Amino acid sequence: MKKQALDPEAKTKPHIIEHLGISALRSTHPEVRKLKRQQSGHSAHGNKVWRSSFVLMDYLTTYPPEPASQVLDVGCGWGLTSIFLAKEYAAKVTGLDIDSGVEPFLRLQAQVNQCEIKFQCGGFESLTETELSAFHLIVAADICFWDEMVDPLLDLFRDALAAGVKRIVIADPGRPPFWSLCEHAVETLDAEIVTRRIYEPWRTEKFILVIERA
Ligand SMILES: C[S@@+](CC[C@H](N)C(=O)[O-])C[C@H]1O[C@@H](n2cnc3c(N)ncnc32)[C@H](O)[C@@H]1O
Repeated sequence: MKKQALDPEAKTKPHIIEHLGISALRSTHPEVRKLKRQQSGHSAHGNKVWRSSFVLMDYLTTYPPEPASQVLDVGCGWGLTSIFLAKEYAAKVTGLDIDSGVEPFLRLQAQVNQCEIKFQCGGFESLTETELSAFHLIVAADICFWDEMVDPLLDLFRDALAAGVKRIVIADPGRPPFWSLCEHAVETLDAEIVTRRIYEPWRTEKFILVIERA
């Protein structure tokens, strides 16, 4: 049988993914495990490193934000997309999540990457146009996983565009609610859907909904 080449880092950093300039602590990392032991459990799936976020980051390397843009990362979870944008493009990022339990994980990941992310606990449904007007770009990964999320996300997009947000980029593995979101966003908001494949840190293909205004 052919021997598999060992990642030279694997022995020393088996719990860290180094990719696109960021270090992402996996769920198995001792510090992450320690935080998990302190919590009784997460409520809405913000409990690991999600692959869609790496596809989103990869897409953003091709279509990066202006340096020092104000960015909102909706359903930020552990905040890896936020950290990537802050580190690579000096973006001023607010990570919004309905689950306060993700905050210590986001803080840990940000500390390891030596960057500052503002965390806001709350649902995207309650963001006002005034709040949204502070942002140039809205990003999200894997945030449309229930049917009930489709209409509030469409409302968020409409409010954000009305507030002057220039670009909205949402990555997803392609669950049925996401396709429903895409259908409405293409019809009513002139959205585009693209497929994006990455080969590192995993070989995977995801879908990206993009809405842009001049
Ligand atoms: C599948 S995880 C993805 C996390 C992160 N975007 C990533 O890719 O690593 C979905 C995240 O959305 C958050 N979430 C779910 N409903 C939300 C809502 N209504 N408003 C804000 N965040 C929400 C969850 O708490 C969770 O952290």
